[in-house]
Amino acid sequence: MPAITTIADEILELKRERNAILLAHHYQESEIQELADSIGDSLELARRAQSFKGEVIAFCGVWFMAETAKLLNPERIVVVPDSEAGCSLVDACPAPQLRAWKAAHPGHVVVSYVNTSAEVKAESDIVCTSRNAVDVVNSIPADQPILFVPDVNLGNYVKRMTGRENMKIWQGACIVHATFPARRLVGAKANHPDALVAAHTECPPEVLRMCDFIGSTSAIIEWCVRHEHDEFIILTESGVIHSLHKLAPRKRFHFIANENCNCSECPYMKRNTLEKLRDALLHLEPRVELPAEVMNRARRPVERMLALR
Ligand code: 13P
Ligand code: SF4
Repeated sequence: MPAITTIADEILELKRERNAILLAHHYQESEIQELADSIGDSLELARRAQSFKGEVIAFCGVWFMAETAKLLNPERIVVVPDSEAGCSLVDACPAPQLRAWKAAHPGHVVVSYVNTSAEVKAESDIVCTSRNAVDVVNSIPADQPILFVPDVNLGNYVKRMTGRENMKIWQGACIVHATFPARRLVGAKANHPDALVAAHTECPPEVLRMCDFIGSTSAIIEWCVRHEHDEFIILTESGVIHSLHKLAPRKRFHFIANENCNCSECPYMKRNTLEKLRDALLHLEPRVELPAEVMNRARRPVERMLALR
């Protein structure tokens, strides 16, 4: 009987043929994470992409993450399974509007969250991720005024943690994290009175005030796995359950639904599928291509962030 070839087999074969690496963000479907060479948050995947020596980076995440990979490793071909895998934060901050904001605030340093287009990064002095945003802002002299783009919730969190009064914050938001309602968290705490609460930095301040831990996706996973406690309420995208179940199979995790979809899934992240990943490796499309001038200007603020360690 001939062997049955699955899409996963095809992907692994194409990966070998293409000398490719498969990078997956924690918000990808489990079947994609299962095939990945590395799973991580946006900072970890950027570092992994930077050090890759092969030919093709198949980036299973959203477009801005793949752009960051291309900036850091421009010789590689970088593909994303679905070209429409975007991000509401990227859409919230178009480069021309940022240029106008900069012009209205001369002398300010621009700190941009990695969830921005390459064009916006090209207008920035330093980039940050949810994992290192506090350290990045603390690395800037205290008397230096700052423009922070585009996430209002991350910006306010950083402002609170650093005590920086001289920081103006763009009013963008993540459609997933910004719509976790505080009343649902209150309800979940009542239903699970012994659970500790961990949330992503993109959640609103009234939610973050009720949390035991605040951090990036990987930081949330690491904290829950290491903690002696065995029950947690999680406020981030539900894809993190893949690593949580693997790394802490005996612990219990409860997710909160947001207002938009009554779920906790990112619709952009979930555009990527195994079939689209197979096709991307086969055709080497959709491929990240950026104008050389944008690449050169956008790379500097990202490298500045990575140099901080
Ligand atoms: P991380 O940096 O935690 O991976 O977050 C990226 C993101 O898009 C969260 O919504
Ligand atoms: Fe963007 Fe939010 Fe999706 Fe993250 S979860 S990729 S911030 S829309």
